[in-house]
Amino acid sequence: MYQVIILGTILLVSLYVSKRIHNQKLNMPPLVRYKIPIIGHTYSYLFNCEEFLKQCKKEYGDIFSIYVWGHVRTIVGKEYAQDILSRDDAFNFSVAFNKKFPGDLLLKNLGPFDPTRLLKDHITCKLDLYSERMQKSLYSATQKYIDIGDHDGPKVFNNMYHLMTRIISTPIANIFIGEEESQYEEVIKTFSEFTSDSAALLKVPPILDFIYPGLQNYFNRILVKSGLYNPATKHQDILTKHIKNQVCKRLEEKKKYGDSWKRPNDFLQDIMERDDFDPINVSYLSLADRMFALIFASIHTTAGGCANAFMDLASRPQYMQELYEEQLEVHKEADENGVLPFEALNKMKKLDSFVRESLRLVGHLTSLEHAVIKNYTFSNGLQVPKDRVVYVYADDVYQDESLQGPNPKSFEPFRHVDKNTVASKISKNYLPFGGGRHACPGRYFAINEIKFFMHNMILNYNFRTESGKVEKRKMIGPAALPSTSGIIIEKKVK
Ligand code: HEM
Ligand SMILES: *[C@@H]1O[C@H](CO)[C@@H](O)[C@H](O)[C@H]1NC(C)=O
Ligand SMILES: *[C@@H]1O[C@H](CO)[C@@H](O)[C@H](O)[C@H]1NC(C)=O
Ligand SMILES: *[C@@H]1O[C@H](CO)[C@@H](O)[C@H](O)[C@H]1NC(C)=O
Repeated sequence: MYQVIILGTILLVSLYVSKRIHNQKLNMPPLVRYKIPIIGHTYSYLFNCEEFLKQCKKEYGDIFSIYVWGHVRTIVGKEYAQDILSRDDAFNFSVAFNKKFPGDLLLKNLGPFDPTRLLKDHITCKLDLYSERMQKSLYSATQKYIDIGDHDGPKVFNNMYHLMTRIISTPIANIFIGEEESQYEEVIKTFSEFTSDSAALLKVPPILDFIYPGLQNYFNRILVKSGLYNPATKHQDILTKHIKNQVCKRLEEKKKYGDSWKRPNDFLQDIMERDDFDPINVSYLSLADRMFALIFASIHTTAGGCANAFMDLASRPQYMQELYEEQLEVHKEADENGVLPFEALNKMKKLDSFVRESLRLVGHLTSLEHAVIKNYTFSNGLQVPKDRVVYVYADDVYQDESLQGPNPKSFEPFRHVDKNTVASKISKNYLPFGGGRHACPGRYFAINEIKFFMHNMILNYNFRTESGKVEKRKMIGPAALPSTSGIIIEKKVK
């Protein structure tokens, strides 16, 4: 009899326990204490972010939440950073982006589109073919925009990043939509300005979110939808017109010359030859929007990478000679136009390490924001709920000696030489391109551009910071931007 009672009790207790576990609230990361309601940690996050996050981690552990701009956000330290990148069933980059940016409204005609597939099929595997054009158009754009002319004197440039968006747009436009550069000044301008014009929506501090989380984005969406403010329209008109001209011209020429037609070799032509392209019924708006999505991903990121690498070297003249000697050696392989064979990129070992160091120390304190798309439990038992936005605590990854080696935060340009870690190689201690299955598919393309750009600058120009000091990144809260301090550039006398 008593056995039945014991069994019954065990059954009841376990039922009760399992029901409790089932209904249990999630075991969420600790929310860092704050004093002022509504404002929460917004002030510290904006104006004292580095110290603030350090203190949070010390007191609250590897994963903690803070209250900023009316939202609870979770910051994930180095121990669990890889979860965010590898568990794409639970963490989603584009969902997080769409929470704060009305990309779907700006690019209304995008349609179903897999940029990673397109880049893999038509850009990454053809980088060797594009190498010569990339160099020619990059070098001529550099000369054009860093227009020192023949008078030798040094010239001061403020805001290298701005200059870089123009320079970098030239080779990217060349490879994306065609080689007739001289004919499309207007298009280059659109390539270089589309991102910053659109991102103006991101620069407004989300003050409305203090009233209700998400209200700012709601308001921005109304602005765009109603047509009161749409920074993309003028660029769309320009690019759509250009693409339409190109596509019509190419279709006509192909019809006229048949097999003897020499097809232009670029991304646009590749897209036109895909199965899903219907020459009878072309949506130019959709073609243009696809280009814009790629422009959004490629121009400001690559321009930022170039500007940072350039500022980092200008700040540290002690490394100039060593890099110069390497470039001089590599340049012996150049043809009569100064164009290097594709393989020469692999011989720029010191420069590659320099670029990797510049990207490693890109300076974001938090990065890679992802939205949680289903409740997720970390291996330490902490849980984050669906719809939470999480950030990788990048500074935590970069401060760590066991991940980075000695002096983790000091700029040591040759620390990656002969370590089998080239600048395009993702790893858990190097996050500028994210990681896992969704790591940036444009990184090989970007690194090649940065290296060719630096190669050319090191060989042909002298440059230094106007202040004579190391110019640090410009911080806006946890985000780092290239320094806008003056750089003095002059042509090398040969
Ligand atoms: C230095 C330059 C660049 C940096 C720092 C950069 C960085 C990133 C990062 C951090 C991501 C998110 C990865 C993740 O979610 O884990 C990303 C994604 C992406 N990048 Fe880049 N990128 C650069 C250049 C480019 C270029 C030149 C292109 C195109 C030619 C490009 C195309 C893309 C695309 C299409 C994605 C989305 C991938 C996906 O969602 O699966 N990027 N990039
Ligand atoms: C992330 O969200 C986007 C847009 O909703 C979707 O297309 C994509 O497949 C998602 N990625 C994953 C890994 O679930
Ligand atoms: C043309 O394409 C659009 C979608 O892009 C489709 O809705 C339409 O039916 C197509 N028209 C023809 C004649 O195929
Ligand atoms: C996710 O967690 C919430 C509590 O924050 C809970 O109400 C919900 O049922 C959970 N969803 C799933 C699918 O377990």
